[in-house]
Amino acid sequence: MSREKTSIHGEWSSRLAFIIAATGSAVGLGNIWKFPYITGENGGGAFVIVYLLCVAMIGLPVMMAEVLLGKRGRSSPINTMRIIAKEGGHSRLWQLLGWLGVIAGFLILSYYSVIAGWALAYIPTLASDMFAAVNTMPQNDVADFAGSVFNNLVGDPLRLMFWHSLFMMVTITMVIGGVRGGLERAVQFMMPALFIVLLVLVGYAMNTPEFMKGLHFMFDVDFNKLFYPNGEDWSGKGLLAAMGQAFFSLSLGMGAIMVYGAYLPKQASIAQTTTAVVVADTLVAILAGLIIFPIVFSNGLEVNAGPGLVFHTLPIAFGQMPFGSVFGTLFFVLLALAAWSSAISLLEPAVAWLVETVKLSRVTATMACGVAIWLVGFATIYSFNIWSDIKPLSMLSGFENKTIFDLIDYLTSNIMLPLGGLFIAIFVAWLMKRQIVANELDTSPDTLGFRFWHFLLRYVAPIAVILIFLNAIGVLS
Ligand code: PHE
Repeated sequence: MSREKTSIHGEWSSRLAFIIAATGSAVGLGNIWKFPYITGENGGGAFVIVYLLCVAMIGLPVMMAEVLLGKRGRSSPINTMRIIAKEGGHSRLWQLLGWLGVIAGFLILSYYSVIAGWALAYIPTLASDMFAAVNTMPQNDVADFAGSVFNNLVGDPLRLMFWHSLFMMVTITMVIGGVRGGLERAVQFMMPALFIVLLVLVGYAMNTPEFMKGLHFMFDVDFNKLFYPNGEDWSGKGLLAAMGQAFFSLSLGMGAIMVYGAYLPKQASIAQTTTAVVVADTLVAILAGLIIFPIVFSNGLEVNAGPGLVFHTLPIAFGQMPFGSVFGTLFFVLLALAAWSSAISLLEPAVAWLVETVKLSRVTATMACGVAIWLVGFATIYSFNIWSDIKPLSMLSGFENKTIFDLIDYLTSNIMLPLGGLFIAIFVAWLMKRQIVANELDTSPDTLGFRFWHFLLRYVAPIAVILIFLNAIGVLS
């Protein structure tokens, strides 16, 4: 049945176009900005292993499920869930899953755009060759210099506002362009270019004095660091952070991948395409770590510097390497492009729903959402300066130091996305008929591959998500 339907918003020109777009959604600030700094905050190796396990055992199966839902429903996530639930005789409430995703997408994009704005702001900074100064100053001053450049930026609400606004304006323009015009074309050239620049940077990192120390930090597995972050009290928070990061980095649990699945041409193998996306995404995150940590240790920086980590470290490297201002400028341009290709997928579910159901034009729908998100973004901007002392949940243990930005990030990555993923897994693996699901995957329910995937989705993923949730609340400690 679903095979004859296509989405009213258009369709990818080929299977490869879908892979490129989905990779564009997955690869972004999550890999290059977030992965290194939360790995740093959570002690390194053990966190990385848990993250990789979450990607393989939860992320990949859930991504297949999400694409499959989109491909069958051919609509925005809200309507896809409504249509498929109705078709199977299940509760209308399943469309709330779509709503959860739309809200998560709104909240994520509101801060994502601010951080992407940092990357934009660093383009002129690097182009000006200001960081060449690190070659002539005493080694001890290098870290302070990089830190002060960053703090000057985030301490200035007006500058942040400028770059955030620019980022949102371009995002809106790209989403208005629609499936083929905007989304597809943008990503095609950027991904390979980003990959090449990352490889160049890995080459640089390999020649820093502390490359091995960086490797050890990332790959020496010491679970004490994950579970006993302060040496004494047991904590399940690191586990939750690793799972949240897997969902965030793979763009899962909020409908971004589902809505892209809705634009998938009929004969495209979901298993192969999603595997390609997951592998590419993971590779970029690992490469980013391999670049950042050696630079951190070689320059006496702090691994747990938090959200500023990438902005503290990379400019120093660019200052020191030949043609650094060229590579540095290029790097931040590519990072901004990678952020844009993720941002459009954060906005698309809401826009698609407004077009389908409220019958707004694509232009009006995108502008309305974009402006609302832009305004919410101000809360994040102020979290780094005039509101940096506001800690709304400071009465709760573990939340004492969380700013509004920290809370939005925590709520979305660690709670909303895994919750979305949990319900997607339950819906596809427990409620949908195996035969229907197998048809969408172009396979038979009896093949080994299908049974393995179904088992992961039915038992492993939901149980893991629930256990990790309970763990973090402390119920299981
Ligand atoms: N995966 C994107 C990144 O790593 C962020 C994202 C999350 C995009 C959720 C869409 C949905 O930067």
